[in-house]
Amino acid sequence: MSKEKANIAVFISGRGTNLRALILRSRKKNCNYKIAHVISNKKNAAGLKFAKKNKITTKIISQSFLKIEQKNLAKILINKNIKFICLAGFMKILSPYFLNFFKNKIINIHPSLLPKYKGLNTHQRALKAKEKFSGCTIHFVSKELDSGKIIVKKKVRIFKNDTLRKLEKRVLKEENKLYPLVLEKLVSS
Ligand code: GRF
Repeated sequence: MSKEKANIAVFISGRGTNLRALILRSRKKNCNYKIAHVISNKKNAAGLKFAKKNKITTKIISQSFLKIEQKNLAKILINKNIKFICLAGFMKILSPYFLNFFKNKIINIHPSLLPKYKGLNTHQRALKAKEKFSGCTIHFVSKELDSGKIIVKKKVRIFKNDTLRKLEKRVLKEENKLYPLVLEKLVSS
């Protein structure tokens, strides 16, 4: 008998290419996880469409995401037996209150080689600093922004004639490959 797949929740705010990559991988027969819930703080986030198409339950949270709402969401996710929460372009900071419910169970993907370039506009800053490499990092989420324990980093070369668009595209391609692989490893560890 095949082993039951681990339930995963993904938090998004927009485009959702990483969500899509996670879902596509989850549909493979030998994949050890399934995306059980997608949470967004934006009701028009493009990523929601793909989730709905794949019949995944979605939920919109409010911009304020106050304590009572956090508690209710945590309850829902605990009841769904969520093994990991993946942040994928989620533009809100989770409060320590929420993080406490899921210690070492929330991971994030960030478009830089952390600890360099925490926060926004990472590619722009890497280009301006004339870095030779950029890339992406998957890390556990802690109270401080983009600062939790690093799980893995993937380097991406920056070329002399690079533009913001080109670099972003190249890094995003690696992100989309890396996130499902890392999640599968975490689930099986
Ligand atoms: C990605 O670059 C991710 O690293 C960052 O936000 C972006 C989200 O892209 N945290 P997408 O919505 O997954 O396409």
